[in-house]
Parts: sequence; structure tokens; C-alpha cells
Amino acid sequence: MTLIVNCIGLGHWGPNLVRALNSLPDCRLGVVCDVSPSRLELAERQNLFSAVEFTTDALHAATDARADAVFVATPAATHFELAKSALWAGKHVFVEKPLCLNSAAANQLVELATTRVKQLAVGHVFLFNSAVRAIKQLIESGRLGPIQYLSATRANHGPRRPDVNVLWDLSSHDLSMFQYWLGADPQEVTACGSNCYAPELADVVTACFGYADGVKAHVHANWASPHKTREIVVAGSALTAVWSDTAGMPPLRVYESRSRCDATPSAPVPLTELGLVEQKFSEPLVAECQHFLDAVQGRVTLLNDGDSASRIVAALEAADLSLQRQSTLIKIDNINLAHRSTTSDVTCHESGRRAA
Ligand SMILES: NC(=O)c1ccc[n+]([C@@H]2O[C@H](COP(=O)([O-])OP(=O)(O)OC[C@H]3O[C@@H](n4cnc5c(N)ncnc54)[C@H](O)[C@@H]3O)[C@@H](O)[C@H]2O)c1
Repeated sequence: MTLIVNCIGLGHWGPNLVRALNSLPDCRLGVVCDVSPSRLELAERQNLFSAVEFTTDALHAATDARADAVFVATPAATHFELAKSALWAGKHVFVEKPLCLNSAAANQLVELATTRVKQLAVGHVFLFNSAVRAIKQLIESGRLGPIQYLSATRANHGPRRPDVNVLWDLSSHDLSMFQYWLGADPQEVTACGSNCYAPELADVVTACFGYADGVKAHVHANWASPHKTREIVVAGSALTAVWSDTAGMPPLRVYESRSRCDATPSAPVPLTELGLVEQKFSEPLVAECQHFLDAVQGRVTLLNDGDSASRIVAALEAADLSLQRQSTLIKIDNINLAHRSTTSDVTCHESGRRAA
């Protein structure tokens, strides 16, 4: 079956999605949209896309009767309205991360997708990265041992966003990976930040997310660093995995955990010794788009579904509150598990305890 897919947003990321979709046999581009005529002209001039129609009318692209599915790659502040319009119009929807900017809105989208019987996916692309999947294998096989901590660093010199702070922009990826690896969501968070470039949006944030079993995930998100770093340490009692998306670094190294505190850590354990055969994934973004199309056609259950993403929104929302309240510990209500339809007034609440 060939699905007709519309795409909204042709800034930095949208063209990557469109290229990935263009490479897949079971979909065809319908309407491609950006509110900026210059972005559309550029796309048309470069003959980048085989779209049937280019428009600045986002509502038309979201609701167009010919489309089966709509991809949204616009700024986060616009995700809710665009995704809602598309779901109302009976489209399957793929929204870039973060799903939207508060959990009440996220829950509305999840509910709408459920009642319309439509797929709602969120662009947590690292779930389709082969090294990330190998770490999941190590955890599930028990080779890593009980998790002791996680530590994520995403730093670069920008690019800053005008509508969200650095944690919403970068750490939504980390939270999606933690959720995938641990099969759990954080229950509490403390966060502190710096505002180097703008008073209203933190551009350097350190947050600590606490899970039910006492595991802590330390997250550092930074738009004001001269160096680009993308690295996560997943420390188990037996092995410690280091995932890297930084140029020049191997994507996965695994160490014996006893060497963590040694003066000289041991050399990485060869991956083949750990039973990790090289996984042949296509480019993560292509795999992610194919996964969505497969879900639309009933062939798979979505990994990056709206429900999981809404719990990430709740965690980010709680971290924001902690930032606003000088690093107060914030409990994250597990609002998505039960009272979804009555949660519009519930986001997160303060524990009253100050962070150390
Ligand atoms: N998955 C990833 O790894 C990844 C990477 C980068 C960005 N993203 C996400 O993709 C989204 C877009 O990011 P970006 O870097 O491309 O941003 P961007 O600012 O470069 O581009 C956004 C584009 O959307 C257009 N736009 C804004 N409002 C619109 C509307 N209402 N209707 C139609 N077009 C509209 C703008 O004109 C612009 O061209 C964000 O949610 C971001 O978090 C994801």
C-alpha cells in the first residue's frame, strides 16, 4: 500500500525527514508546507522533494483529504495545534520531539489519537540507533548487572531555540533513551541552570532524575559549549556502557565496572565477547520513518508512541518547575497511567524538599 504523507516544517530538520520519506517505497509525498515562503522556494528551487503541492497554509497541509499521515517538524510551540488539527482530520501523525510543551496538552493528543484510532508517533530518533539497541540488549541479558546510574551530556555551541530551553530541546532525547533502557519513567527531579544568552530560557542545565528503584540519571544539556559532545554512560554493577554520538568516537564502548574507580580504567571489552553482533540498521531516521509507516499499516506496535512521549513531557515539565524554584525537588506525577481524561489541572507538585 502506498501512503500519502504530508510534511509541515522545512527548517533545519524537516528536509531530513522529507529525504528519509522519499527513500521509502511505501509512501509518497503529498503536500509540503512551511509558513516561510523563502523556505518553500528554496525547497522548490533545489528540487529537493517530489511533493505534489507546496504551500504556506499549515492547516491545509494538516487536514488535506488526500493525506493518510502528517509529519510535523516545526518549532515545539506549534506542535500541539498542528498535531491536534491533523488528528481531528483523521490523519496518523508523526511529531518531532518534544511532543508538545505541557502534559495536559500531551494527554489531549494521546486521547485524540486513541479515540480516532490513529497512530501518534514522536521523533525520538535515537531509539532507532543500533548502539542504543545494543545497550538495551546488554541490560536485558543481565550482562550489565543492576543499573547504578546513568549520565548524559549533550553540549554544543547552540543552536539555540526561541521557544524552549536547552533541556526541552536536547534532553528529551536522553529521557527517551532512559525510558527505553530502563522500561520506567522518573519519579522526581531537581534541576539548576544558567542563562548565558537570554534571561528567559536557560541555556545550560544540569538535572538529576530519580527512578523508583533509587537509580539516578544525571543530565547535562548545554548550548553554550565550544565543543560538541553527545555521550551517555550507562553504569551497571558488572559492566559500564558508554554510548557516543560525537564525531570521531566509537558509538559504543563497554568497560568492566570495577575499573570505573581505578586510576587506569581497563581497555574496552571487545563487543563480540559480549555477544553483540553488529546490527545492520539503516540510518536511524530512515528506520524511524519506516517504523511509523509500518505502524500505520498495522505491521508493528509503535516504539516511540505518544503515550511514552507524554510521560517525557511530564518529566521535562517537572524539571522546568524545579528550575523556576531554585532546584527544589519536584515529584513527577504519573499522570499518564490512569486519569488521563481528568488531568488537565494536574502536572506535577512540589515535594517541599530542597535539593542538596
Ligand atoms: N529528532 C531530532 O534529532 C531533531 C533534530 C533537530 C530538530 N528536531 C525537532 O524538529 C523540530 C524543528 O526543528 P528545526 O531545527 O527544523 O527548527 P527550524 O526553526 O530550523 O525550522 C522550523 C521551520 O518550521 C517553520 N514553521 C514555523 N511555524 C510553522 C507553522 N505553524 N506551520 C508551518 N511551518 C512552520 C519555520 O518557518 C521553519 O522553517 C523541532 O521540534 C526540533 O526539536 C529534531
